[in-house]
Amino acid sequence: MEPLILAHPTMTATFRKGAILALILAVTVVAAMDASFEGNLAYQSPFLNLPELAVQPAEHHKRHVLAKRDTPDVDVKFIHGAASGDPLADRVILWTKVTPSTTKFPVKVNYEVSADRTFAADSIVKSGSVLTTDDVDWTVKVDVDGLKPQTTYFYRFFAGNAISRVGRTKTLPTPDTPVDMVRVAAISCSSMPHGYFHAHARIAEREDIDLVLELGDYIYEHPESKPIKSGKLGGERAPQPSYQTFTLSDYRTRHSQYKRDKDTQALHLAHPMASIADDHETIDNASRDGAPKHDPKTQGDWKVRMAASTRAYFEYMPIRNEVDKQQYRMYRTFRFGNMADIIFADSRYDGRDLQAVGDINKRKIMSDKQEAWFHNELVSSKAKYRVIANQVMFAPIPHKILGYEIEITSDAWVGYPYNRNRLLNLMATKKLNDSLILTGDLHSSIASNIYSDSLPYNKESGEGALMTEFVGPSVTSESSVFDNKVLSDMAGPVLKLVNKGAQWTDFYRHGYMVLQLTNEFARTEYWYVQDIKKLDGGREILGVVLESKRGSNRITKKYSP
Ligand SMILES: [Fe+2]
Repeated sequence: MEPLILAHPTMTATFRKGAILALILAVTVVAAMDASFEGNLAYQSPFLNLPELAVQPAEHHKRHVLAKRDTPDVDVKFIHGAASGDPLADRVILWTKVTPSTTKFPVKVNYEVSADRTFAADSIVKSGSVLTTDDVDWTVKVDVDGLKPQTTYFYRFFAGNAISRVGRTKTLPTPDTPVDMVRVAAISCSSMPHGYFHAHARIAEREDIDLVLELGDYIYEHPESKPIKSGKLGGERAPQPSYQTFTLSDYRTRHSQYKRDKDTQALHLAHPMASIADDHETIDNASRDGAPKHDPKTQGDWKVRMAASTRAYFEYMPIRNEVDKQQYRMYRTFRFGNMADIIFADSRYDGRDLQAVGDINKRKIMSDKQEAWFHNELVSSKAKYRVIANQVMFAPIPHKILGYEIEITSDAWVGYPYNRNRLLNLMATKKLNDSLILTGDLHSSIASNIYSDSLPYNKESGEGALMTEFVGPSVTSESSVFDNKVLSDMAGPVLKLVNKGAQWTDFYRHGYMVLQLTNEFARTEYWYVQDIKKLDGGREILGVVLESKRGSNRITKKYSP
């Protein structure tokens, strides 16, 4: 609309008033449509430098917004649930995906954030609308700001005549706020054909969790033909697509399948999540430069595959996009008042050299830039605890036979002594008390005192330890001993030959960890579910409780209820 028309001298007053109203309406509609695309973070592809995989917002405006300034009513369904994640003191990411009856038009999705479950007019604290299209696989991701710290909120989405289920989320306290307790759950390695996600369901039922930490392998790239010794589940849990995922479309299809799991939906609706991708979000043993099982002849260029898996992850997970020099960045920190800094370190992708390749003493598990950031986060932390959330195991694990490296276990920090020793030295020289690591990847429960070979360590008392590590059980993925208790009981003593700090091992059960931090102690609980192969096998037991008295830097108390 041309503003000049408004000033035309021959217009009547009524006509001018109508024209002004029409202008306001048109500007409002166009502005709303503009804001709608930009507000959906799924369009902010992390790979703007790879045009074949990136979404160019300008293209969208041309194709959808400018060509058609209206979103027709289409029949929409919410079958992928809703999720929240990456909470800060004033904001949180909200996520959903729509399934429209036609793919011809953009779908306008409205969201509401409420102080309570009523969503009454006076309870709504934030609302807005964004657009989504097939360009982002109909995903919706908004960063809702202006929220109060340390506050529980409820959220829901609308589109057409459909309404999503209601999710619950919680913001963080501001960094200087005194906090008496923080309680987080930690999960990793959830493979659909391996079993039912009972662990997700049990965490969803809990009222005492501030944040769920997802430590990687939220999806698996495996084909349907992958053998599973402990038995696999078919039907809806059989991989979609049936082959190994390697294109953007494949990864989206796989993520979409996982988001339809009812227990995963319950988990997301109950708690906010902070996640980091591990190798199986792309392919087994992936790193920055490739993966041993990637076949360029049939699966194309590695960088394109990496970008595809990362973009799908970005579209489907409720994480904030941190773009660093046009590459996606997953390392970041969540501050729980004065109690804890939860520092996500990326030991899988950012600057990681290939495992068991080249000179072990020069091999790096992360970029120099990330390491500098990581160490600074630890040293500058003013919180009572530093919780390092990362993908691969830090404690020692057998990784050499007759001097030759074992490729599988060289995956862990022990295969990267350069960075491992530098972190241990930092812990020792800076006297960084009350630090602990939460780890996924290994499909095993291993709780350890972390010590340095170059410093005194008392194996019996644990004195001399610099910190602790808690490797979590998988949600379902088969363990290295094929979920077998007899083999698990044999593996524990073998591990202890190289890991003098091991305090608890369990290689056969599945479940999750709960970490509770207080002024007196850090307490880690290992929760195990009864049977992942059975739909009714979701009963849980508390396997073991491990406590570290504040200032001890080691496990000081262990008991099984
Ligand atoms: Fe895994």
